[in-house]
Formats: sequence, structure tokens, C-alpha cells
Amino acid sequence: MSEPDRLPAADLPPGVVRRAGDWAVGNRGSAGADSYFAVSRRCRHQLADLSEGSIDADGCLVCPWHHSRYDVRTGEMVEGPRGFLGYHGPTPGYTQLVELLGRIARLRVRRAVRRGDDLVLD
Ligand code: FES
Repeated sequence: MSEPDRLPAADLPPGVVRRAGDWAVGNRGSAGADSYFAVSRRCRHQLADLSEGSIDADGCLVCPWHHSRYDVRTGEMVEGPRGFLGYHGPTPGYTQLVELLGRIARLRVRRAVRRGDDLVLD
């Protein structure tokens, strides 16, 4: 197993998202055995690095650029972007269109499980 497939669980306290190779790996904290997740790193909107994103109160991964939200269990975009390129704000119609595409073209998902002191991506 290559190094990006394993990282110290101590580096992922609740609420933290980190980069592991091509993956954004995080800890949703309150979801028990399903707390940890790993999804592909590039936002389906404009390819922002999701490992620099955040986890919201619903346990969704939020893109750092235009705040699209993802269900990390399925990789599905559950809320579209608020903006595009350097603009950040309301984009009626466009937001819903990108969200529809993000529901179809989901992020890739890997299983992330705690094994001893490590988090392992299966
Ligand atoms: S790049 Fe992620 S929401 Fe725009």
C-alpha cells in the first residue's frame, strides 16, 4: 500500500479535511464509524481543491471557492455553487444547473477506516 493510502488518525481530528494524494480525506466527527471519509479532490464546478474545504454542521464537505456542498457518503453535490471564477454571490439558475450536473457527475468515493492509530483508504 502506498503512503497516500494511509495517514495517522491523529492528523484528522473532528472537523478537519486534509490532502492524501488525489483524495480529500476528512473527519465529520459525530457520525461514529462513518466519521471518516475520502472523496476525489477536485470540485465538479471549477476544480477547486476540496482538501482545502470545510465540513459544515450537516457533515457535508464545502468547497473552499464557491461553497458547493457535497454528501461525502455518495460524492453527490447537494447544493450548487454561489458564484463562478472570481465572483462570489447569487447566481440564480446557474447554481441549480451546476447542482444538477454535480448530482450526476459525482465525486469518487473511497472507504476510509480507522485501523489502530492509522486511517486507511480501502
Ligand atoms: S470550484 Fe467548487 S464551488 Fe466553484
